[in-house]
Amino acid sequence: MSTPGSTTAGVPPQGPAPAPESIGALFDDVAAPYHRIAEWMSRAPGLHEWLGSALAPGGRRAIDVGCGTGRFCPLLAEHYEEVLGVDVADVMLDIGRRDHSRPNVRYEKRGAHDVTAERDGRFDLVFSYSAVFHMRPYDRILPHLRSLLAPGGRLIVFEPERNAGHERKGEDADWLTDVAFRNARTAYTMTGSVEAATDVLNLFFHPSWQELCRHSSVPSREEFREAFSSWFPGVEFVDGVVPAMVVARWQAPRTPAPPHTPTPGPTPAPASTPPSPPPPTS
Ligand SMILES: C[S@@+](CC[C@H](N)C(=O)[O-])C[C@H]1O[C@@H](n2cnc3c(N)ncnc32)[C@H](O)[C@@H]1O
Repeated sequence: MSTPGSTTAGVPPQGPAPAPESIGALFDDVAAPYHRIAEWMSRAPGLHEWLGSALAPGGRRAIDVGCGTGRFCPLLAEHYEEVLGVDVADVMLDIGRRDHSRPNVRYEKRGAHDVTAERDGRFDLVFSYSAVFHMRPYDRILPHLRSLLAPGGRLIVFEPERNAGHERKGEDADWLTDVAFRNARTAYTMTGSVEAATDVLNLFFHPSWQELCRHSSVPSREEFREAFSSWFPGVEFVDGVVPAMVVARWQAPRTPAPPHTPTPGPTPAPASTPPSPPPPTS
């Protein structure tokens, strides 16, 4: 059994969060297996159908914040005239330009905070999938995402949900092996492909993925709900769209409101947990 701080479990406890550029470099290191896994994960039953109806009737401008390899940008582009995908990872973006290019989709290397209403205008859709938790603290990134929304615009954010598996991170030597092989098994069951299972193992045992795990903080369902309720009053939470993910959906008021101050309330301490791997962890 490993002790906190040891590396025998592969993923020792969390340290200071890396800067966005470092996070981008780490994602670039694992971009190839990540992309292949994300492609089959995108075929999760019901996901595209749910998104199709959540995005309708669409509008003029959409942004995918932390778009990665751009797997959702073509779908956004079916509903919005213009889509901007931003990410801090070069290789991920290059894959997006190669595999998910559309005439009305633009990929740019930008940190989320580098996109501003003053510089870029506001968006009718602010979308993010499994990326906002990398940009924490929530009380900085959530008001920023809100500031990007046009009046009447829509926010749709998917975040991974912390589960019992996350709690064991770094606590015992078998943690990483258990998580990696459980997810590899899920990959094989879902796809029937040995290559898919191998991609999962390559991802989980990659030092850069472990570094990302070490520094990321997946929210509990309660923490997610509390943070989003504070910044997006009346936000709707949708369960069960994708296993192990939580979803927040909000529509901005149609008339511009004065700058929002969050609804006060106790904020639970963030927990040190792994990032959402593309494959389900249950
Ligand atoms: C788990 S991946 C999800 C990618 C994509 N949304 C998907 O679902 O496949 C998280 C992404 O967030 C990006 N990211 C992390 N911090 C960021 C930041 N501050 N600004 C923009 N992108 C960021 C990473 O580079 C990575 O591509």
